[in-house]
Order: sequence, then structure tokens, then C-alpha cells
Amino acid sequence: MSDPNTDELREQIQAEIPAAPDGKALEELRIRFLGKKGVLADLVSRIAQVPPEERKAFGKTANDLKALAGELLDARAGQLEAQRRAEALSTSKVDVRLPGRRHTLGTAHPITQVRDEILSAFNRMGFLTVDGPEIETDYYNFEALNIPPEHPARDGQDSFYLAPGTLLRTQTSTVQIRVMEQVKPPLAIVSAGRVFRRDTLDATHAFMFHQIEGLLVAEQVSFAHLKGILLKVGRDLFGAGAALRFAPDFFPFTEPSCQLCVNFPLADGRSRWLEVLGAGLVNPVVLKGVGIDPEKYSGLAFGMGVERIAMCRWGIQDIRLFTENDKRFLDQF
Ligand code: DAH
Repeated sequence: MSDPNTDELREQIQAEIPAAPDGKALEELRIRFLGKKGVLADLVSRIAQVPPEERKAFGKTANDLKALAGELLDARAGQLEAQRRAEALSTSKVDVRLPGRRHTLGTAHPITQVRDEILSAFNRMGFLTVDGPEIETDYYNFEALNIPPEHPARDGQDSFYLAPGTLLRTQTSTVQIRVMEQVKPPLAIVSAGRVFRRDTLDATHAFMFHQIEGLLVAEQVSFAHLKGILLKVGRDLFGAGAALRFAPDFFPFTEPSCQLCVNFPLADGRSRWLEVLGAGLVNPVVLKGVGIDPEKYSGLAFGMGVERIAMCRWGIQDIRLFTENDKRFLDQF
């Protein structure tokens, strides 16, 4: 085995490392010179073959070469990294001189605003806000509300069934039953939430919308109380001079029943009456069904369409705008 030519090795190190074109080539050189089985390790291992008097000088040369290779490798790595950064900056699409993107503060969704306003109006009158599930059973959604399986009132609420007997609630009136099962009168609650019907989308209908349900059960509750409460809230919402109209209606769970309409301005200058809630005195059959004595107690109940109230409030012509998430629309509230 011939003695390694250390001068030649030094020349190789000095020539090749600074010329490494990229990180990969540089890594290969590092392995070649400084790796465990690299050229310099090999050199060191030959020290035993060197005559004793030359060993010290040989050892020093080997160590110098190692140090030299290490320094040159670090230096070249630094150069390559600087080059890479300069290139990345010059080809980057980000122009750091441009102003940043502003984060604008959002506002509550118009439905949320109207909902909260109505709930707090009722809270101030002593109604407690409660919650109810969106997935309901046929019993709470229909039967306990005096809507038996063959009742035509089901037709108007064509429903999303999840399984036989289980559906997405079509009305928040379900909460009335759940509350009366748990709480003895006197009681007064409001409950807001989403309801679902298999309706075809148009300007005033949606398959998902929001309702606010109200229920008051106590002794001697009368239709006058119902009218008084609804007129008060209606005027709070639409202004003291608002055109509000009560009309007779029918709901299986109230007797008598009514609806409240608001005069709604149309884009062409005409106006129409839009029904914003159904209401009535709780049907004695419903009270009996939850174990409340209808001879002793009576109740009033109402269910509002939150979207429709928001539409009347702001003159919004199309219910679909609420769910389109168009910022140009939402920014107006
Ligand atoms: N649940 C009815 C609907 O969705 C609205 C309604 C009417 C609620 C009369 C009531 C009520 O509480 O008493 O059309």
C-alpha cells in the first residue's frame, strides 16, 4: 500500500470543497473527506505504518487536513445558504413593500341581532330563556302538540325525518312540552333556535329558519295578556307607529289562535302584510297531556319567525340573503 500523498489531498480539499455546486454535492464531499470511512479517517488509520520518527509530523498533518476540510465545508455551506436566500427573495411573489391586509371587525349577523333583541325584551318582562334540541321525536314535534299522525297540519310542515319517529324539529313549539313536563306553573319561558321544513326556497321561504317560541302558563291568563305582550314587543321592534295587524288563525295546540302581521314595504312602493308570528291560548288538551290542570291554569303561547321579523325591520326583500354569507350584505348591519 502506497503512502497517501498528503499534498495531493490538501489540493483536493482546497479545490473541490469551495467549488461544490449545491448542498447535496457538499454533503457528499463531507462524507468523502470527514466521514467515518472517509479519506481522512483512512489517513489517520495508517499512522501505524509510518516510521516512528515521522509519526508526530504525520499526525499533525492529518489533523491539520481535518481542520481545514471542516472550515472549508462550513464556509461553503454558509455561502450556499446565502445564495439560496437571495434567490428565494428575488423570485418570491411577496412584495414586502405593499401594505398588509387589514383585519376588519365583524358584526353580529342580523338574525343574531334580532334574536337577541327579542329575547332580551321578553327577559325584561320576566320570561326565562331556555334551550331545546334540534333533533326531536314525533311525540314532541307533533303528537304532544295535538297534531296526531293523520292531522292535515302535518302537511304544511313537510319534514326531514332522520329515522322513523325522529326528525329535525319543524317548530320550536316542541320546547313548550319539554318545559311543561319539567316545571310546574306559574312559568314563563322563551326559546330561540333553528327549525327545518322541506320547503322550496323562494324569497320568503327557506328549509331552515329561526323561530322564537314563548310560553306563559299561570292562573287566569287571558287573550288580553297575549295581545298586550305581543303589541308591546311589536312596537319595540318596529317602532311605536308600526302597522301591526292581528288576524284569526288556526293551530292545533292553541284555542283560540291568531297571527300577527306587519306591513312590509315592497321594492315597487306597494306593501303587503307579512305574517311574523302565530299565537294563541294553549289548548286545554295540550295542558292535560303534560299533567297541568286546565281548570286551574291557562296559558298563552307564540312562535315568531326571526327571518321575517328581520326582513320587515330592514326592508330585506329575500330570505336567502341571510344564508348566502355575502359580506356586502352582512356589512350593512
Ligand atoms: N309553531 C307554529 C309554527 O311553526 C307557530 C306557533 C303558533 C307557535 C302558535 C305557537 C303558537 O306557540 O301558540 O307555525
